[in-house]
Amino acid sequence: MTAGAFPFEANPNPVDDARRAELLADPGFGRVFTDHMVTIRYSDDKGWHDAKVGPRAPLTLDPATAVLHYAQEIFEGLKAYRLADGTMALFRPEQNARRFQRSAKRLAMPELPEELFLQSCRQLVEVDQHWFPPVEGGSIYLRPFMIASEVFLGVKPSAEYLYMVIASAAGNYFKSGAPAIKIWVSEHYTRAAPGGTGAAKCGGNYASSLVAQSEAIRNGCDQVVFLDAAEHRWIEELGGMNLFFLFDDGTLITPPTDGTILEGITRESIIELAREQGLNVREERYAIDQWRADATSGKLVEAFACGTAAVVTPVGSVHSTNGSFTIGAGGPGQITQQLRGKLVNIQRGIAPDPHGWVQPI
Ligand code: PLP
Ligand code: COI
Repeated sequence: MTAGAFPFEANPNPVDDARRAELLADPGFGRVFTDHMVTIRYSDDKGWHDAKVGPRAPLTLDPATAVLHYAQEIFEGLKAYRLADGTMALFRPEQNARRFQRSAKRLAMPELPEELFLQSCRQLVEVDQHWFPPVEGGSIYLRPFMIASEVFLGVKPSAEYLYMVIASAAGNYFKSGAPAIKIWVSEHYTRAAPGGTGAAKCGGNYASSLVAQSEAIRNGCDQVVFLDAAEHRWIEELGGMNLFFLFDDGTLITPPTDGTILEGITRESIIELAREQGLNVREERYAIDQWRADATSGKLVEAFACGTAAVVTPVGSVHSTNGSFTIGAGGPGQITQQLRGKLVNIQRGIAPDPHGWVQPI
């Protein structure tokens, strides 16, 4: 199939204006959903077919649907913004489309053509554009995903798939709105091993991270940081964000993406912006013991997490069963705030976009 506009069926019972205004006044993250959704089906015999935008509604699934048993599922996350001039745009959506294809390949799923991915995102935002929250940092968060929909209990790649996009009004990811987050080091659990699915955005990675994330919350932290599976020493990433470390000589380090961490689009954008402002950016391994030593000696001056949902979020302190340490003064660092400002201003059409990252809808 080609990617012209998909057939559209309006939701006969959309959320009314008064209720929507109430929801949009404080949307938080991932709880307030728009009126419509996109669906596209795939089968081995027909290929991609039956694309449509219709009312957002519950799914009916046979209890033997493959995804419910073997977790053959992948997803993406990207934001639509209302720009300073009133138009709407997506940030580097082709990067999400390509990562979705890489995830599909790793999970033995069919690759959705880039143009269908882009059209599905654009059309949903167009239809549900009255769902932009009028709050600071507000956006529409898009969640494209694909599930194995064949009704079959044998362990093999499904012969049928359902691709969908839902949309959600989004404010801040971290509820506390805290100026800097607290990180918990998972000493027992790992997120991904060499040869595993760490670089794919598949639900299974998140399912296996939850016990460690719960441990972080129990210990008063916001997010868990995972170490490598082999030596349990090298810092990889957070449950849903990549990490950067800034040193007093202007060096910025981020762990390399060699198969066990997600190739974050925010990460890649920050690397470019940081190089442009003269920082010496290096993608190299950084050990947890070194982090503690460098933070204590003052050599490490800032650290931050980044991702679509979290944007750029300063890391204030790091906690583990071996004790805690503080990064810098424990609040947002100056370079972190600068980089965040640069990124957000491009995303929102406030600053020029020399890289062509912002795609009008
Ligand atoms: N790492 C993990 C595990 C994530 O879930 C995310 C969020 O998508 C990221 C990193 C950041 O990726 P991106 O910047 O593409 O959103
Ligand atoms: C995103 O940032 O888009 C993610 O998928 C991460 C998750 C923590 C919401």
